Amino acid sequence: MKFKCLLIAAIICSALATFGQSAKTAIDAEGHQWWQHAVFYELYPRSFEDSNGDGVGDLRGITSKLDYLKELGVDAIWISPCFPSPQVDFGYDVSDYENIDPMYGTLADFDNLASEAKKRGIRIVLDFVVNHTSDQHPWFLDSKSSRTAAHRDWYIWRDGKRPQQPPNNWVSLFGGSAWKFDATTGQYYYHYFYPQQPDLNWRNPAVKDAMFDVTRWWYKRGVSGFRLDAVETLFEDPALTDNPVTQPGKNAFGDPFEQDKYNTKLPEVHDVLRGLRQVADQYNAVLIGEAYTSDIAELNRYYGAGNNEVQLPMDFMFGMIDKLSPAEFRKQIAAVNASSGWPAFVIGNHDRARSYDRYGDSVHNDQIAKLMAALYLTLRGTPIMYYGEEIGMKTTPPTRKEDVKDPIGVKGWPQEKGRDGERTPMQWDESVNAGFSTATPWLPVPSTYKTYNVADEEKDPQSILKFYEAVLKLRHSNRALLDGSYVPINEDNANVLSYLRIYKDEAVVVALNMSGTTQKVSFAQSKYSSATKLAATEQSSSAGDKITLSPFGVFIGRLGR
Ligand code: GLC
Repeated sequence: MKFKCLLIAAIICSALATFGQSAKTAIDAEGHQWWQHAVFYELYPRSFEDSNGDGVGDLRGITSKLDYLKELGVDAIWISPCFPSPQVDFGYDVSDYENIDPMYGTLADFDNLASEAKKRGIRIVLDFVVNHTSDQHPWFLDSKSSRTAAHRDWYIWRDGKRPQQPPNNWVSLFGGSAWKFDATTGQYYYHYFYPQQPDLNWRNPAVKDAMFDVTRWWYKRGVSGFRLDAVETLFEDPALTDNPVTQPGKNAFGDPFEQDKYNTKLPEVHDVLRGLRQVADQYNAVLIGEAYTSDIAELNRYYGAGNNEVQLPMDFMFGMIDKLSPAEFRKQIAAVNASSGWPAFVIGNHDRARSYDRYGDSVHNDQIAKLMAALYLTLRGTPIMYYGEEIGMKTTPPTRKEDVKDPIGVKGWPQEKGRDGERTPMQWDESVNAGFSTATPWLPVPSTYKTYNVADEEKDPQSILKFYEAVLKLRHSNRALLDGSYVPINEDNANVLSYLRIYKDEAVVVALNMSGTTQKVSFAQSKYSSATKLAATEQSSSAGDKITLSPFGVFIGRLGR
């Protein structure tokens, strides 16, 4: 018994040492890990806050906004790649995994950010670009230098099928053949994304060792985990079988429509994930996976047998429901609740149009932004926010080809406008450039910044920001929202999504009106008879076991008998 107590104490102490927080333990009384209760916030470093007046955000800028994030209710920030990079894909082309791009600052700036974040109980998660490096990475420069170079086999080199013909029909996600001929050695190299992003050869154990070491290097520097970029694409069929063409015609890049059957989602991916997880576990770290799954069986494979792979594979099946459909959300939430791991909910990121417009109907967008917040922040699982979502930032794509920064927008214009629209500078206040920078920002600030900005919304009790703060506060303090089970109610209602969160004798009801007309719902089918408001949008209320919801209204209440 004594030994058991000592062992438990030792485990708790080592967990505390890892994060250095006196008030936090890694595992709570219910056996939850820190990442199950944390609210994550993705920020795009180029666009968050510019401290040195060059029009591009940086690490010191992020540090200066930590108090804002703390106040909002953020427990962990995921910083999109901030490593040295030629910036062809804005950091997703890494030329040195163990440093900071001078445009974002220095390692000392990173250490300062990490220590200031730790003081506030905010953890840092970095973006690990595992599938490919930049073509300027020293590994690739050596690899392309000769067929016998030490790093030759770190990438995927093949002869063409015939002179002037790539090895097979695979096309890049970003347009054109996925093979690029390199005259120095007379072979093609493989790139699933841009030609400047050659795929690493994960079948080579040296690649695996080097990449695993990168994670250790950052864990030792205080990082609490990684978002694993594009994990589906790590392996390719060694026989290079042609992919099936799925339909006639051409996509936005002029390429055939193909099913990426032989170059994505190969089973070997899971060996790598298990290995990365073993390392992560030594540092009490979390792995968040970017994996576009099509069903729960596939999602379960990312959790791994016995949950030994990615703790938080993002549930894009939820995030891809781009309409306010109670039935579809109900179905997906139930499915993910029955999955083998802990759900991770996301409604926006740097690759997709912002949630404000995707769900918005152009008339009630502000109400709908609150509705979506109330939905994914009250579910059983971990939410991952995207910067600016909390103030109602809208997607602002370029209107002229010459303004496009994202290369896929240049290549695919006008069908594919690229991802600039969801990456515009954070709107801090009404001042010039929305307070983001004293210089002209790298992407223009959306015109809405005069009304949608942090400073103004802080002062307006009805703002989207104030609503996010209220729901996040609730989520951190209410046991039913943190740990309760998810119990759907009124499952045949076509307009209102409603559910209970129940933890021991505490229960919360969440009712979300996904329609533009007033709705009434009841929770009479539960054993509860009254609900005390915890958070709600204007004109939504409860009386007895009934809830009245204004158009797109929200009511969250503590249930009583
Ligand atoms: C991921 C990133 C995306 C990037 C791509 C290539 O999908 O989210 O922004 O372009 O990987 O690294």
